[in-house]
Amino acid sequence: MIIIKLNATDSTNSYLRRLYSSSAIEDFTTVIAKKQTQGRGQRGAEWESQEAKNLTFSVFKSLEDFSLTHPFGISMVVALALRKALQSFLIPQLYVKWPNDILSADKKICGVLIENVMKQQDIVASIIGIGLNVNQVEFDNLPRASSLTKITGAIYDLDEVALAVLNQVQYYFDLLKEGGFENLKTEYESCLFRKNKPSTFKDAEGLLFSGFIKGVSNFGNLQVLLEDNIIKEFDLKEITLMY
Ligand code: BTN
Repeated sequence: MIIIKLNATDSTNSYLRRLYSSSAIEDFTTVIAKKQTQGRGQRGAEWESQEAKNLTFSVFKSLEDFSLTHPFGISMVVALALRKALQSFLIPQLYVKWPNDILSADKKICGVLIENVMKQQDIVASIIGIGLNVNQVEFDNLPRASSLTKITGAIYDLDEVALAVLNQVQYYFDLLKEGGFENLKTEYESCLFRKNKPSTFKDAEGLLFSGFIKGVSNFGNLQVLLEDNIIKEFDLKEITLMY
């Protein structure tokens, strides 16, 4: 596995995308930056991270020889790999907030931005961006954010945490490749944040509604049991879990 370490870049996802466009690139090539000047989050948000305190990195995964029936498999691989790696550092109460935020003690410690590389209709590769809050302790104006240090009081070696995550990402991709989609889904649903608990959601128009998370479809849509006793499926554009 090739690991490129940078002091700064705009976004490690963008860096890998440029690398891929300009040269052949080995599977699992990883770019880690101490600082991103234009770190990107989901839904067009910014990703802020204190310089050299946290992990901001991206992994290139070729999918050329991968018969990927459902792209949501990639999301599950990454979420489960992160959870397993963090468990090995004894981080408590780890849950996956759909689709792939990682929470500990009800606070977000990690976000994931997956950007697929398409050739015609096929996904030929994935750029998996991971922002993991490790040693940062101040999160001004972000009451729902936390870090490994805030949760356990310990200071972590960033390289050690990154390697643990990368090893688990490889392990879970192997499982997916060997036909483990259903098993991954079972594991994913077993650690889904607020599953079977009364929850409040916001729809695309900003209206709040309540329901119970029941699971995910093979396409990665969230299955929610609504008040009229009907289970409805929502994609990322249609719903935000408010807690
Ligand atoms: C989220 O909104 O939860 C996703 C955050 C993803 C942030 C990571 S940091 C490394 C990679 N580079 C980026 O610009 N974004 C991702």
